Amino acid sequence: MGIDGYTESSAGGKEGAVMNTNSLNTKGSGNGVKIVVIGGSGLIGKKVVKNLRQMGHEVVAASPSSGVNTVTGEGLAEALAGAQVVVDVANAPVWEDKAVLEFFEKSGRNLLAAEAASGIGHHVALSVVGTERLLSSGYFRAKMAQEDLIKASPIPYTIVRATQFFEFVGGIAQSATEGQTVRLPSALMQPIVSDDVAAAVADVALEEPLNGTIDLAGPEPIRMDDLVRKYLSANHDERTVTTDARASYFGVAVNDQSLTPGDHPRLGKTRFEDWLKTAN
Ligand SMILES: NC(=O)c1ccc[n+]([C@@H]2O[C@H](COP(=O)([O-])OP(=O)(O)OC[C@H]3O[C@@H](n4cnc5c(N)ncnc54)[C@H](OP(=O)(O)O)[C@@H]3O)[C@@H](O)[C@H]2O)c1
Repeated sequence: MGIDGYTESSAGGKEGAVMNTNSLNTKGSGNGVKIVVIGGSGLIGKKVVKNLRQMGHEVVAASPSSGVNTVTGEGLAEALAGAQVVVDVANAPVWEDKAVLEFFEKSGRNLLAAEAASGIGHHVALSVVGTERLLSSGYFRAKMAQEDLIKASPIPYTIVRATQFFEFVGGIAQSATEGQTVRLPSALMQPIVSDDVAAAVADVALEEPLNGTIDLAGPEPIRMDDLVRKYLSANHDERTVTTDARASYFGVAVNDQSLTPGDHPRLGKTRFEDWLKTAN
């Protein structure tokens, strides 16, 4: 069980997801591991920073608002000095095809080079389940480029691929809205709440690098059209969801395998319907 209630799947999975949770021997103790969280002011980043500090670690929340910019390199060497682990949960400010690719490429190159120079022992990055199945989207081509740079670098790493966050469902609705109609396919998803993502990422940061990828998902599958219907209803939003098998997900044709995790994912335990009650 993770610190905030996600479940570790039992028997390992793709790319060796059996976790050695005592590897750094620091979980829950005051033994100081210095961890730099890139994107530490973001939705996931803030929670990862808080979780790791609560476990007694020295955490630097690094992002442009605190003078650390992975695209320009500003402040990176100083932030990384003396650190053992880097967690990258940054996101691009602009998602236009060219801009987002440039962000993840420049950011990835600068960050990995700075990590090599300061002897970082574990690079943890947050990516998206199914990235290789979604490459007709510029955003996912950029996430793939980020993953490829990590795999090609000499820094030991763990890539955590999460499904869509509950907090992102409003954005899915928005992207598919025309007038009062939200047109969506009924493809299966298995979304997860950001708290459970942050808990898993914090735990992974304290484990041995896998040099591999872990899938992370919510506790139950749900169809995209139903997910958005429930979200709109809980928010007293009068838009209507129309199920359309030809509708896309951010321009990508999706089926029941596109957005759902592979074998033996780690699972968050927060159910969407329970979250809707607390978030409204
Ligand atoms: N949304 C989803 O459903 C979903 C699902 C799976 C995975 N993910 C992944 O989760 C990650 C985190 O997403 P999020 O929603 O937590 O992001 P977010 O709230 O938008 O936060 C983005 C963070 O990136 C930082 N940042 C922006 N430009 C930067 C730069 N040049 N250098 C360093 N940091 C920079 C921002 O810093 P400032 O505040 O200082 O600008 C902020 O801390 C993303 O990589 C995304 O691909 C998302």
